[in-house]
Amino acid sequence: MSSTTARQVLVIGGTGFLGRRITEEFVRHADRVAVLSRAQQTRQGMPGTESIQADRRDPAALRSALGNREFDVVVDNIAFDAADVNGLLQVLNGRAGHYLLTSSVAVYTDRYVRRPLREDAADLNLRVPVDAPDAFHPRLGHAYGNGKRQAEQAIRESAIPWTVLRPPVVVGADDRTLRVWWFVQRLLDGQPLVIPDWGPGRVFQVVWTHDVARAFHCAASNPAAFGRTYNVAQAEVFTAESWIEAAAGRPFGHVLLDISAIRCELGFDPSPEAVWLQDTLAGCAANPPSVGSAGYERRDYEARVARTLLQSLH
Ligand SMILES: NC(=O)c1ccc[n+]([C@@H]2O[C@H](COP(=O)([O-])OP(=O)(O)OC[C@H]3O[C@@H](n4cnc5c(N)ncnc54)[C@H](OP(=O)(O)O)[C@@H]3O)[C@@H](O)[C@H]2O)c1
Repeated sequence: MSSTTARQVLVIGGTGFLGRRITEEFVRHADRVAVLSRAQQTRQGMPGTESIQADRRDPAALRSALGNREFDVVVDNIAFDAADVNGLLQVLNGRAGHYLLTSSVAVYTDRYVRRPLREDAADLNLRVPVDAPDAFHPRLGHAYGNGKRQAEQAIRESAIPWTVLRPPVVVGADDRTLRVWWFVQRLLDGQPLVIPDWGPGRVFQVVWTHDVARAFHCAASNPAAFGRTYNVAQAEVFTAESWIEAAAGRPFGHVLLDISAIRCELGFDPSPEAVWLQDTLAGCAANPPSVGSAGYERRDYEARVARTLLQSLH
């Protein structure tokens, strides 16, 4: 691998919501960063980076784009199954010093337990019927968790030094999934809100884009992280009520993570709520997405329901 101080880093899918922050974190630390994408995102050309254009699912295009280049660190931010991981490893053919994978807490099938989940609680052999209830992913259902388990297995079976990070729901000022915007957009219009009842006893954590990026940087080229899988999340635990009180939005599904491994082994220190939540909410309000959040087209009806409910309480 390269012998100069600046490492050669490749970020697969490094121009989007989370990937962009990962890319910026390595650039900030003076690594030489190449970003591979299909160049379909509007925000291309990140300062201080080299852009490589290829569809990662097209082996010939990937091979042609990467040639015989060597990388000290490869962050695979958008692998969704074993084929994604194996395809990239074949093209790299050993020319990578450390492979880091963005996985997900969706690998934990049984999340409704009353204790923080440790990394070894995930059964990677499990495949859940895609339409079974309680999927982590609203659109892809259990196919998402099944794919992430496969991707994790594929990297474990490889000969390369690897590290897996498992984030819960990722939040940040520019979230293209519009989950934070759901709440901010409604707060800004000043009309009353209807918050769905998420059921009693549910708690959850989220993670801030910048902190996931810092965690990747902590892990990269760090022998302590080789062959290790880490939960990465903010330390704060929310109930539906405390999340709404923090003005952060609709609550998310139950997940409680043990983040002691990444803290102890890699020295990862999650940012405090005053920092990450403020950045997320203020950033979202200051740069509102141009599209409405989920259901906003029915906002007048929603506000009427909220007023009726409020009146019935008095
Ligand atoms: N958001 C969450 O709450 C959450 C929670 C847990 C885990 N995760 C994980 O976080 C990752 C998503 O990161 P993100 O937020 O940065 O995603 P994103 O905003 O959807 O961006 C996707 C990135 O990948 C590139 N890309 C997509 N398909 C590609 C392909 N076939 N070949 C090459 N490049 C491709 C995109 O650029 P082009 O379109 O230009 O190609 C872009 O750079 C996923 O692994 C997801 O499972 C997310």
